[in-house]
Amino acid sequence: MSCRTVILISGSGSNLQAFIDTLHPQQADIVAVISNRADAYGLERAAQAGIPTQVLDHRDFPDRASYDLALAALIDAHTPELVILAGFMRILTAGFVARYHGRLLNIHPSLLPKYTGLHTHRRALEAGDQEHGATVHFVTEELDGGPAIMQSHVPILADDTPESLAERVRATEHRLYPLAAMLYISGRLRLMDGHACLDGNAIAPCGLRLDQFETDMRGHRND
Ligand code: GRF
Repeated sequence: MSCRTVILISGSGSNLQAFIDTLHPQQADIVAVISNRADAYGLERAAQAGIPTQVLDHRDFPDRASYDLALAALIDAHTPELVILAGFMRILTAGFVARYHGRLLNIHPSLLPKYTGLHTHRRALEAGDQEHGATVHFVTEELDGGPAIMQSHVPILADDTPESLAERVRATEHRLYPLAAMLYISGRLRLMDGHACLDGNAIAPCGLRLDQFETDMRGHRND
């Protein structure tokens, strides 16, 4: 049976587009896309794909707790099994995170635990790093700190700017995030005792490597 999935966005929604393009409707049923911004381009992407959209503007609420309660009510009305944060630019309350414990995923544009928070591409360049990337992780109370599931890696080039680097990382996100979500949807990926586990085995602290995982998948197909 298809996994009922709600996706939360705030902006362009290129990761949302990757889900729309990649996930088979028989596997994942994207039952709603919810944005805290009415002008998020991702809302148009969802509408184009025939997915119901809703806007819940955080500026209509006095504080974070009341917003998160209203957001949870909207989400729960869709009875999702999986909730995906795809560029949802809000810090979530502990109550919200606890409510979706083990079924709330996020993508962050850095090789966590490096560079939590904002401006990750610029910070990686300023630090003189050789490589950068993105991480999909389970969401816990700690900002960008939940157990890592999978990471994509890109080399940093001598003439990279934050923008050029962001663009290359973003391209990998569009492979990384649907693949990680599919592991959850197929039942292979779970959060157990605070660890991200694949097939019941704890994943290493920095997550699986996307490139390695893709190579293994190709190998299996050719077997
Ligand atoms: C991505 O860079 C993601 O890593 C971060 O927010 C951005 C969302 O981009 N969490 P988009 O809206 O999916 O294009």
